[in-house]
Amino acid sequence: MRTIVHLSDLHFGRVDRRIVAPLVAAIDELAPDLVAVSGDFTQRARRREFVEARVFLDMLRFPRLVVPGNHDVPLYNVARRFLSPLARYQRFIAEDLEPTYADEEMVVLGLNSARSMTFGRGRLNRDQISRAAERLRGVDPSRIKIIVTHHPFDLPDDYGPDDLVGRAKMAMAEFAAAGADLFLAGHLHVSHIGQTAERYKIAGHSALVVQAGTLSTRQRGEPNTFNLLRVERPNITVVQRKWDEGRLAFVESSARVFRHADRGWSEEDATR
Ligand SMILES: [Fe+2]
Ligand SMILES: [Fe+2]
Repeated sequence: MRTIVHLSDLHFGRVDRRIVAPLVAAIDELAPDLVAVSGDFTQRARRREFVEARVFLDMLRFPRLVVPGNHDVPLYNVARRFLSPLARYQRFIAEDLEPTYADEEMVVLGLNSARSMTFGRGRLNRDQISRAAERLRGVDPSRIKIIVTHHPFDLPDDYGPDDLVGRAKMAMAEFAAAGADLFLAGHLHVSHIGQTAERYKIAGHSALVVQAGTLSTRQRGEPNTFNLLRVERPNITVVQRKWDEGRLAFVESSARVFRHADRGWSEEDATR
């Protein structure tokens, strides 16, 4: 079994400072095999926000895989935005924009969906998609194949397609053919778990799409949350930890179990 702590949208600059130490303590206690952070480390891509994000990352003593979000690209500084959009991210957070984590049980690929031109919307390009699909194709099917992006591949019902990562349909066709099991994303500041079968209708394939909520004060109707995933073929369990204002700690608020069968991943019937 492998465990992944999935965090997203910390937005240093707009983080609730009270949560930082309890978050680090919770992760310490969970001792995950990997911490995946799906972007939006900062609020406005300011230097001091990146410095804070770096200090936070340095407190985590586990392997990490991180990707940038749209807020990690400067919005108002036009020179930086277009000439070196991810220079600060690469200096303070991670040089590699296509990181990989691999062990005997899982392979995790990070893809950069943040763009200068699109003001918040994200996109993948053809090369990124084919490189990632190529890598997944070479992985033994016994391992769980995971893609991490900032912008999501699925949405809760009340969101429009503008929030979906650009070229999602093309990417999903390739990733499905390469046997992708699980997509981790953020961006909406709302936690959500979907299955790709509904949106993409690819025969014989249904991957899980897990969105982590935010860890900033830019909340959209739910408290700060993060996810713990327990991955052990044929099961993936997604446990949510929510900030508890009374206990000033992250407490388990839900746990859902998904199982892989012929038609892909679907939720285990809780009544059985
Ligand atoms: Fe965000
Ligand atoms: Fe975002």
